[in-house]
Amino acid sequence: LAGGPLAGKRVLVTSGPTHEPIDPVRYIANRSSGAQGTAIAEALRDFGAEVVFVTGPADAARPGGMEVVEVESATEMLAAVEAALPVHAAVFAAAVADWRVTSAATSKIKKVGGKLPVLEFAENPDILATVSRMKTGRPDLVVGFAAETDDVIENASAKRLRKGCDWIVANDVRPETGIMGGDENAVHLIMEDGVEDWPRMGKAEVAKRLAERIAEALA
Ligand code: C5P
Repeated sequence: LAGGPLAGKRVLVTSGPTHEPIDPVRYIANRSSGAQGTAIAEALRDFGAEVVFVTGPADAARPGGMEVVEVESATEMLAAVEAALPVHAAVFAAAVADWRVTSAATSKIKKVGGKLPVLEFAENPDILATVSRMKTGRPDLVVGFAAETDDVIENASAKRLRKGCDWIVANDVRPETGIMGGDENAVHLIMEDGVEDWPRMGKAEVAKRLAERIAEALA
């Protein structure tokens, strides 16, 4: 069934953690279930958008009715995102690892009598900032996420400017909120001209409201 407020719009969503290999059997990762990113992709699909869903190795079941691109590392995620462009809007919900191991071993690192391995790190590309700062072919709307425990609005507003994205969805992840790993989210939508404080609600409801805002912005 064609139609919906996002009919004819192509949107990209990144979701889940990335895994940065240490050797063929070990990796470094962020904690992320992929639940919020998956819900956003589904809401955008339900609004009629053509969705490309780029996901790291997340627990959440993969959404149907869209192109799903599976990646492992941040480097792979950036390549998949660049391959998916151009899009009208991009939502970066993935919890990307900040660092990768400089030269991952090609065979399993052995335990040898008390000698500890030393890992050297390199900085991963910032996918959100890279796309936000594109000179040509930048999406009309770029949305990033920020998980903050302190001064949520101030830190997320600074992040919006630093990354160059249009909006930031700021999550209040103070431990006492129980948000991390839960079914609910408490977010603030930070835009150039103001902040919306959304009441605590289910992740599907956050996704639907965000999809509504995106449809209005692209209209
Ligand atoms: O800097 P921080 O990791 O807090 O920024 C979070 C936002 O930036 C999220 O939208 C996340 O998906 C995005 N990000 C990214 N690539 C990175 C790090 C973060 O796209 N390497």
